[in-house]
Amino acid sequence: MNLPGGIWSTRDASDLVSDTEDSEHSLQRSISSVGLTAMGVGAIIGTGIFVVIGEGAKAAGPAVILAFVLAAVTCLFSALSYAELAAAVPVSGSAYTYSYATMGELVAFIIGWDLILEYGVSVAAVAVGWGGNVNAFLDSAFGVRIPDAISTSPEDGGVFNLPAVFIVMAITFLLIRGTRESAKANLIMVGIKIAILVFFIIAALTSFDPNNFQDFSPHGTSGITTAAGLIFFAYIGFDAVATGSEESNNPGKDLPKAIVGSLVISTLLYILVAVAAVGVAPISTMTDSKNSDAPLSAALEAGTGLSWASALLSLGALIAITSVVLVILYGQTRIFFAMCRDGLLPRSFAVIHPRYGTPARLTLSFGILISILAALVPLSEIVKLVNIGTLFAFVLVNIGVIILRRTKPDMERPFRTPFVPVFPIIGVLLCLYLMTDLPGTTWIRFVVWLVVGLLIYVFYSYGHSRLRTRDRDQSGTAA
Ligand code: ALA
Repeated sequence: MNLPGGIWSTRDASDLVSDTEDSEHSLQRSISSVGLTAMGVGAIIGTGIFVVIGEGAKAAGPAVILAFVLAAVTCLFSALSYAELAAAVPVSGSAYTYSYATMGELVAFIIGWDLILEYGVSVAAVAVGWGGNVNAFLDSAFGVRIPDAISTSPEDGGVFNLPAVFIVMAITFLLIRGTRESAKANLIMVGIKIAILVFFIIAALTSFDPNNFQDFSPHGTSGITTAAGLIFFAYIGFDAVATGSEESNNPGKDLPKAIVGSLVISTLLYILVAVAAVGVAPISTMTDSKNSDAPLSAALEAGTGLSWASALLSLGALIAITSVVLVILYGQTRIFFAMCRDGLLPRSFAVIHPRYGTPARLTLSFGILISILAALVPLSEIVKLVNIGTLFAFVLVNIGVIILRRTKPDMERPFRTPFVPVFPIIGVLLCLYLMTDLPGTTWIRFVVWLVVGLLIYVFYSYGHSRLRTRDRDQSGTAA
C-alpha cells in the first residue's frame, strides 16, 4: 500500500486557511482587536495571581516578585513567536495548527493532545478554584458556606464539587450561544478584574512596610526558579488569543497586538500586585496554609485591617476566574475543532450550529467532560501538569518560527519576531529551564499522557487524517 503523506507531512499554510472557507466547517469572524486583547487578559488573570501566588511565596519568600519577572520574560519570548505564527497562519488551533504547517502531522497531533493539558485540564482545575472562592466569598460576606460534601472533590473529603460543575456548564452554554456574546461578557469581567487588582495595589500601598522585604530571598536562586515554575501558571492564556484567529476581524494586524499587549498589561499588573502583596504584610501571611485559598485577601486584611476588603477580593477572584474559564474553554473547543476538521479526531464534531454559528456539539461534549473532571479533581498538583504541558507547547512554537523562516522564507508575515533565530532560541531555553525544575512525578504524568496520545494517533488519527484520506479520494477519482 502506497500511502501518500507520512507522519512528517506538513500542511501548507494557504491550504489550512482555505479549509476555513468551507461554510459547514467554518467559524464566523466577529472579534475586534479590543475583544482579542480582552480575551488574552481574560484568560491570563485568574487563579495564578489570586491563589498560586501563595505557593510561589512559599518557594521564594519575598523574592516571589522576581519569580513573576522570570516567568514573564519566559513568556515574552514565546509570545513574540506566537504573534508571528498567529498572524501568518490565522487558523483556529494555535500551536497545533502551526506545528502542522511546520513540523508535520505527528508533532501536530502530539501538540494538540498536549494542549488538552493546558486548556481542558486547566479549566477543570480553575473551576475548582472558582468553587473555593465561592465559599471564601460567602464566608467573609455572609458567614455561610456551601457544605463540603457538595463543594469539594473526593480527594479533599467531599463527594462532588457542585460549584465547579455549575461554572463549567454555565460557561459552556454561553459559549454555545455565541462568540460575540461570550466576547462581550468577557470584556465586562476583564474590566472588573483589572479594577479589583488596582484597588488591591492602592489599598496595600497605604500600609506598605519596607521591613517586609527583609530576608528577601531565603532559598536563593533555586527558590526563585521553583517559584517561577509555579507562577508561570499565572501567565498562561496569552496564547489563547491565537485560538481565536479564525474569528478575528483582522487577524494579521490584531493578533500580534493582542497577544503581546495582553501579556504586557498582565505582567505590569502582576509585578505591582506582587510588590504590594509582599510590602503590605509579613510573607508568612501569604504562606500560611490556612490562607491558601485566598492569600492576597489574607495579606490585605492582615496589613490594613480592612476586613470587608477580603470579601471584595474574593468576589473579584470569582469574576476573574469566570473569565479564565470562559476563554480557556473557548480555546480548548477551537483547538479540538481544528483537529476534528483535519480528521485527526472524529470529523463529525467539527460541525457549526446553524443558528448560533458555534461548534455547539463539540462545546457541549467538552463541557460535560470537563465538568466530570472538575467534580472530582483537586487544584494543587494539576497546576504543575498544566505548566509542563504549556511549556512544551511554547518550545515547539518557538522552534516552529525558526523552521518556517527556513522552509517558507517568502511567506507573508504580517508580524515578524525580531532577531530570529536568537529570540526563539532564548524562548526555548527559558521554557526548558522552567520545565527541568518541575518534579519527577509531573514529568512521569506528562510522558504517560503523551504516550496515550501517541496510541490514539497510531490507531485512529493516522488512518483518518484528511491529509491522507483526501489524497486517497483524489487518486481514487483520478483512477
Ligand atoms: N493564567 C490563568 C490563571 O491564572 C490560567 O488562572
